[in-house]
Amino acid sequence: MRFQGKRAVVTGGASGIGRATALRLVEEGAEVLIGDLDVAGGQDLAETSNGRITFLRTDVTDAAQIEALMAAADTAGGLDVVFNNAGASGSREKIDTIEPDDWDRTMSLLLRSVAMGIRYAAPLMAKRGGGAIVNTSSVSALGSGYAPTAYSTAKAGVLHLTKVAAADLARHNIRVNAVVPGFITTNIFSSALGFEGERRDKANAVLGAIANKAQPVQRAGRPEDIAAAVAYLASDDAAFVTGTHILVDGGMLIGTRASWDENAPSMFAALEAATA
Ligand code: NAI
Repeated sequence: MRFQGKRAVVTGGASGIGRATALRLVEEGAEVLIGDLDVAGGQDLAETSNGRITFLRTDVTDAAQIEALMAAADTAGGLDVVFNNAGASGSREKIDTIEPDDWDRTMSLLLRSVAMGIRYAAPLMAKRGGGAIVNTSSVSALGSGYAPTAYSTAKAGVLHLTKVAAADLARHNIRVNAVVPGFITTNIFSSALGFEGERRDKANAVLGAIANKAQPVQRAGRPEDIAAAVAYLASDDAAFVTGTHILVDGGMLIGTRASWDENAPSMFAALEAATA
């Protein structure tokens, strides 16, 4: 019960990683306010939570709505934990074709939203004597090819923002860390393609099969895997941890695929076959 008597805000809490994290924080004693664009998903979760989860429709690209979300948690009894997590793929164009406005929209959704989440949470936490903030980055912050260009750049920004914000806010006893998920089976991929209903279900089934084999750990990454790391970073167990990140990727970034997948194309096998 690491969050007994504490109140948390989770953005993107209606689905996937945010939803699993809201449930984990509640399981450990917190009251959680989720902010999300998805009214049906947010209200559904709130209704099944025995009053432990409340929902406020929030668009994280609108700083005034983020400010209102943080203020609502503060008014309800004080803000201790914030998980800046809402997101989507953003523009999928490469750097030589992306339009300026699409670049800005993606940065607004994935980087400015996190900056403003910190911006409006920090004064409320400071007046209570401290707090913990966790931001969602991505393995795409650490290399190319994991996600679209603008998304990857924004997620790298989230990692650096996490460090500098941790430095800025240490004087208020506010810790700021990030979680770096690998490939986690959520709706984010089907949403990027605009799939809904039956097509979304079909796509998610295919995704599950791909995700089982996408990294050294031989199963798909789950939202609960990320929630566990977020709960640690947000808790007093991490009281001496700030300005850093936890990679939760099932080993995806260990090395090249051939290093852990015996069926991956191997240079030695290619040389042997070509010269036999
Ligand atoms: P998801 O699609 O299941 O959940 C994202 C949630 O964010 C949705 O409920 C959606 O309605 C909400 N959202 C989107 N735009 C919003 C906005 N403007 N304002 C408020 N809410 C908004 O996806 P998932 O995977 O749970 O994504 C959560 C975070 O994890 C995102 O930041 C994503 O970039 C990140 N991530 C996901 C990975 C994955 O493999 N699923 C890998 C690395 C990072």
